[in-house]
Amino acid sequence: MTTNEASRLATIAGRAIPAVPWQDGDNLPWNDPAFSERVLVEHLSQDHDRASRRQQVIDAQLRFIAARVPPTTGRVLDLACGPGLYLHGLAELGHHGRGLDFAPAAIRHARTVAKTDVLDCEFEEVDLRTAAFGEGYDVVMLLFGQLNVFPRSIARELLTRAGTALAPGGTLILEPQLAESVRDTGEGIPTWETLDAGLFSPHPHLLLHEPFWDTASRTATERWHVVDLASGAVKRHAMSTCAWETDKLAETLRKAGLEQIEVHSSLASDEETASAGLFGLTAVRS
Ligand SMILES: C[S@@+](CC[C@H](N)C(=O)[O-])C[C@H]1O[C@@H](n2cnc3c(N)ncnc32)[C@H](O)[C@@H]1O
Repeated sequence: MTTNEASRLATIAGRAIPAVPWQDGDNLPWNDPAFSERVLVEHLSQDHDRASRRQQVIDAQLRFIAARVPPTTGRVLDLACGPGLYLHGLAELGHHGRGLDFAPAAIRHARTVAKTDVLDCEFEEVDLRTAAFGEGYDVVMLLFGQLNVFPRSIARELLTRAGTALAPGGTLILEPQLAESVRDTGEGIPTWETLDAGLFSPHPHLLLHEPFWDTASRTATERWHVVDLASGAVKRHAMSTCAWETDKLAETLRKAGLEQIEVHSSLASDEETASAGLFGLTAVRS
């Protein structure tokens, strides 16, 4: 091993144990163009429910969402819309959709499908933390556990702005992660594997994954080290996920001017289409 390789590997040896939430990174590199291209393939795969769920699950969730939009004339804002699979389905029913996401390949796909199929939806490549949400929506939604990946103060601020984006009587639909599921992630065991290619790299690499649970902040932090097998170069990624107790979330929603808060075991209709580790929460703007 050359001195250069040794010093690169030293970045792994010198890592903080346990990881400090948000210190090594805040989320997966969704907005990295190359990562975004690789993850788009997973979004669209009908073999698994990672990145986006399979169409059968999305269809079941769309029935739940469509029941909360006025017939055929609704306006829906999808926060972290990914490749736009939900808004495409709602547009087929006659609703107008606006999707926000910072993953370039996902937004490109969402726009291409909307244009090809002449669907009434628009997509913007923006970061939710700074994007303008607009106003007057019948439904604002933030699905697939994405609320939990923001630090609590940012999540509260996002919920307040999501509430403001609703028309009076409009519904906020959340699909947060169950607190115990977040904790299970953080208490998992470290793993390493060698891959010819994967989400983090298109080249042969060694992937080290370490989860941590921080009791004080009730946060799971996952850290990945990606070691390129040809060069020995090391890249680090990290994602922290907050465990939200349902009553704390409900309190935050009430402070954001929302009421009629309802907890749903799932946004889908049956066990076959329910998503493990997630639940549904709806709230109405007064
Ligand atoms: C698990 S995917 C879910 C996508 C979509 N909701 C679905 O279920 O098909 C999470 C999405 O959140 C987006 N995302 C995460 N943090 C974001 C941020 N700060 N601003 C915009 N998009 C973000 C990612 O780019 C990714 O497309």
